[in-house]
Amino acid sequence: MGERLDPTDLEFYAEHFDFYNPRETALRERAVEELSAKCPITHSDAMGGFWLINQYDAVRQVSLDWESFSNSPRKYLTTVAPPSNRPAMPPLDIDPPKQRIYRQILNPYLTPKWISRFEAGIRAMVTELIDDFIEDGCCDLAEQFARPFPGRMLYRFLFGIDDGEVARVQRWTYQMTFERGNPDNVEVQTMWNNWCYELVNTRRESEHQEDIIDGLLHATIAGVPLTDEEIVGCLQILILGGFSTTTDSMLNTMLRLANDKALQSFLRSNPDQIATSLDEFFRIDSPVSGLPRMCTRDTVVNGQKVRAGERVFMFYHAANRDPEEFDKPNELILDRERNRHLAFGMGNHRCVGSNVARMNLRIAIEELLSRLGEFALTSGETAVYRPTGTWGPTRLPLTFTPSLRQSGSAVK
Ligand code: HEM
Repeated sequence: MGERLDPTDLEFYAEHFDFYNPRETALRERAVEELSAKCPITHSDAMGGFWLINQYDAVRQVSLDWESFSNSPRKYLTTVAPPSNRPAMPPLDIDPPKQRIYRQILNPYLTPKWISRFEAGIRAMVTELIDDFIEDGCCDLAEQFARPFPGRMLYRFLFGIDDGEVARVQRWTYQMTFERGNPDNVEVQTMWNNWCYELVNTRRESEHQEDIIDGLLHATIAGVPLTDEEIVGCLQILILGGFSTTTDSMLNTMLRLANDKALQSFLRSNPDQIATSLDEFFRIDSPVSGLPRMCTRDTVVNGQKVRAGERVFMFYHAANRDPEEFDKPNELILDRERNRHLAFGMGNHRCVGSNVARMNLRIAIEELLSRLGEFALTSGETAVYRPTGTWGPTRLPLTFTPSLRQSGSAVK
């Protein structure tokens, strides 16, 4: 355990918590070690006011009680609103029972068995990305690997989009994810919307393909096919849901490994342990800091009355360090016996892409460990974080042993 929070830091968390505030970003590493015990539930006056929930059992209660805590768009806490022309995004922004129907449509295309067909292609894509810097002996893993990865993976493999087209569309998603608040984002959202509608139209006219887009095109709810707008919303949340989350989980894991040579060496020599250790990496550095809900009827959470119309924020990063739930919560224990972490959420909205996330992270870590040899943070550099709703370093400058490229051509 590092330095502890002082009383003014605790007061900030107890009364003014705001994940867009650079002070919170600077305190985060220390705060998550203490908040579940010192502030299990507290009220913040930031972003219009909301209840901050740091304790594991209380987050669990809110996650499971969807009748009292709605996921409708009224829940949002933000100082930077998403572009006004962004379509509704089922299943994320709706409640059961309709939300469950969307999940039934998407689930078959996101099982471990179904997505295993993408494994070889993802590994080849990872090889090409690493080839672009492997001869240099140094890289910024954020810029050169972890940020380009999710767009290429999701558009290519989930949606079957050609490589040339991917470069264009992933730039839009990239800008809207990593440059929130950019005044051009409404225009970029329009271009993205138009591109998605065109994709849906083209696919309606095309031959049947066994993929998630066809699943949406042929699905019905109460006998009525989905509208183009509903399909576009689903496609966009699949991309947005898998974007900075994938980037941050890779960077968080690689940072832990860069700072711990013994851990690095253990996983390099025992690659079969990578898959089973992923959940512990997800737990300890939850890429989604937390998520909001809107209270729809007066409810008691951890002894605190939360009234209808109030919003709550489930701070997964803090709850995943709750000592009441996790033994030695601030230690990375690869073979932790009980690990019911909240990094993918819990309940009806639990991440529909978690199998994809696991496969991506496993392949990336396997290839990076094997090809970079021993790596470390570049001398004089530190990891820098940005104030936002997800958690991961913005740059990860690494130094490693240079070696030869493996594939024939570079992918830009
Ligand atoms: C490490 C990577 C990831 C993390 C940490 C993560 C985390 C989460 C969390 C916490 C939720 C719960 C939302 C809520 O309760 O309101 C969620 C939902 C969701 N995620 Fe992920 N996610 C990841 C990767 C992905 C990927 C790769 C995809 C797409 C293939 C994806 C698509 C979605 C979608 C569509 C939802 C909404 C599900 C619903 O509302 O029913 N996620 N994710």
